[in-house]
Amino acid sequence: MAMSTETKMQSFKMSESGRIELVEEPRPKPAVGQVLMRVKASSFNARDLFMLDGRYPVPVGRVPLSDGAGIIEEVGLGVTRFKIGDRVINSFQPTWFGGQQREPGLLYHTHLDGWLREYAVIDQQGLVMMPEHLEFTEAATLPCAAVTAWSAVAGIGAGDTVLIQGTGGVSIFALQFARALGARVIATTSKDAKVEQLIQLGASDVINYATTPDWGAQVRQLTNGRGADLIVEVGGAGTIAQSIKAVAYRGVISLVGHIAHTTVGMNLLDFTSSGATLRTVGGGSRSDFENMNRVIEAHQLRPVIDRIFPFNDALAAISYMGQGNYFGKVVMSH
Ligand SMILES: NC(=O)c1ccc[n+]([C@@H]2O[C@H](COP(=O)([O-])OP(=O)(O)OC[C@H]3O[C@@H](n4cnc5c(N)ncnc54)[C@H](OP(=O)(O)O)[C@@H]3O)[C@@H](O)[C@H]2O)c1
Repeated sequence: MAMSTETKMQSFKMSESGRIELVEEPRPKPAVGQVLMRVKASSFNARDLFMLDGRYPVPVGRVPLSDGAGIIEEVGLGVTRFKIGDRVINSFQPTWFGGQQREPGLLYHTHLDGWLREYAVIDQQGLVMMPEHLEFTEAATLPCAAVTAWSAVAGIGAGDTVLIQGTGGVSIFALQFARALGARVIATTSKDAKVEQLIQLGASDVINYATTPDWGAQVRQLTNGRGADLIVEVGGAGTIAQSIKAVAYRGVISLVGHIAHTTVGMNLLDFTSSGATLRTVGGGSRSDFENMNRVIEAHQLRPVIDRIFPFNDALAAISYMGQGNYFGKVVMSH
């Protein structure tokens, strides 16, 4: 028997060919403790691109994207955190609620179906409320990149200098949070066309890392020889040697990612001499997310969106991401 239109939904899923395909399927019903969320927007992160272009294989049938925002349309029995009509966002790591994480948790797109779909049934514990002033397209940028940036800048304050690398999602959120917390921000980018936007967002100085490969020395010059108190390290092996040159004595390098595809790595003797702490950052808990949202509301921060694609244009969005010329976030409007 044919299903009525109301009970169907569309999702993008990984196909056997390694590409995504649009699939029509029944709309799920929430069970005890679950809600039915109408997904209004989702967003891309570097990790999604790695999975979508085959660098990290994911199971056939998996719905991609780790970040989504939407509105609650149904609640199951026993739901207390939310009601119908609430505007919500998923927690990036839905099984990490707070405190120190003792083991890696489940992740969307890899272990769990992600957010490139029209509806999702999800446990109420895996969601947080949207900051009130944000649109769905803005809120959908927060779970991975913003929470990671929030964790990466933890501990900095007024008078500190933070260095961000490049103009991707994590780095631009780190710039916004560092400025909101009163720190000075020095930014790097490979494209002169992006300098003005970085300055508009509050960077005091911008260094082109493509034309100034020894940018660590320039960070020292810009800080009267002291260096940056905290570095949000998204480049990894390809940038860490310069970060060690750029970091202040006893400063912190928050190791977030490995977007610079080289294997230069670091000299351990240089690192020890820097006196710096290297701390790895792996997203953040639901409690971190809620704390971050309070700061976003208090400072009326708005995520920086490069481009919004309509739901049906997911392939065009992936191809646009692949060109690597965005500033901030690429978003899907459902
Ligand atoms: N640990 C975690 O929890 C976590 C969470 C989120 C992301 N990550 C990782 O963090 C990294 C960034 O993620 P994202 O989603 O923010 O990426 P993204 O939005 O895709 O960032 C792309 C930008 O990175 C910049 N970039 C590339 N190579 C660079 C280099 N050698 N030096 C400085 N900047 C460079 C470029 O900026 P310009 O065009 O301005 O040069 C590019 O536009 C990725 O490796 C990702 O896997 C980790």
